[in-house]
Amino acid sequence: DTGRVFLLDDVSSTNTYLLDRVGQLNSGDCCLAERQTQGRGRRGRQWVSPYAGSLYLSMYWRLEHGVAQSAGMSLAVGVLLVEALESLGIVGVGLKWPNDLYVGQNKLAGILVEMRGQFGEPADMVLGCGMNVSLGAQAAADIDRAWTDLASLCGDDVDRNQLASAVIAHLRAGLRQFEEEGLQGFLSRWQKYDLFWNRDVNIHLGERVISGRAAGIDEQGALLLESSEGLKSYNSGEVSLRPV
Ligand code: ATP
Ligand code: BTN
Repeated sequence: DTGRVFLLDDVSSTNTYLLDRVGQLNSGDCCLAERQTQGRGRRGRQWVSPYAGSLYLSMYWRLEHGVAQSAGMSLAVGVLLVEALESLGIVGVGLKWPNDLYVGQNKLAGILVEMRGQFGEPADMVLGCGMNVSLGAQAAADIDRAWTDLASLCGDDVDRNQLASAVIAHLRAGLRQFEEEGLQGFLSRWQKYDLFWNRDVNIHLGERVISGRAAGIDEQGALLLESSEGLKSYNSGEVSLRPV
């Protein structure tokens, strides 16, 4: 289980740091930073990360079979993060499709997968994870939604070095499995942590809202929804999931 870890105090974004260096990286190399000045979430949203004391981590992975092989990779990362926490005795964290970690109604961590590559060539994947460890009072004003941190879940005794090393070890081993089996090997594990399994939800498709019952995910990582339109799957690029 080897690989490099680039440990930085300040960076624009750990994802950007690796994306700028893809030609020099090996699968499993990572970047960790104390703070990010331009941490980002999906769809151009912001990831609030000006405080030291959290986990901002990105890992590089090369997929030999290209972009097509990456379907569901971010969902596999979600499973691996929850399992890394469990290995440290931290339980009670679940998954909100497609790739957020929640404790109850509160967001604990988010995952941002970005890639570089041409069709027909190997793909350079960067898997970014932001996890709130101990955010402090200032964060309440900065984050525009219900959030939580590990300190609230299990007290102030979370060792960030242990956390980072568990996350890195689980990602390195798990992504090797993902490379061989795809999302298949993660489906039942994802379902185990699915916070919305068999619950009534709304999904937002642009201006449209569809109500139904969440029925897990398919082999591509798409959301399955049982609604008046029957059982249909929805891709993460097009919809947002909301509790009823
Ligand atoms: P979806 O549309 O799929 O429901 P989302 O609403 O969770 O996704 P994301 O892009 O996944 O949005 O996450 C970015 C959002 O996370 C930001 O818009 C902000 O509301 C929230 N956020 C930003 N920083 C933090 C943080 N440190 N902890 C928790 N939540 C954060
Ligand atoms: C989301 O919930 O939308 C995903 C948030 C991902 C944040 C992490 S922090 C480390 C890495 N660097 C970034 O700029 N984003 C990811």
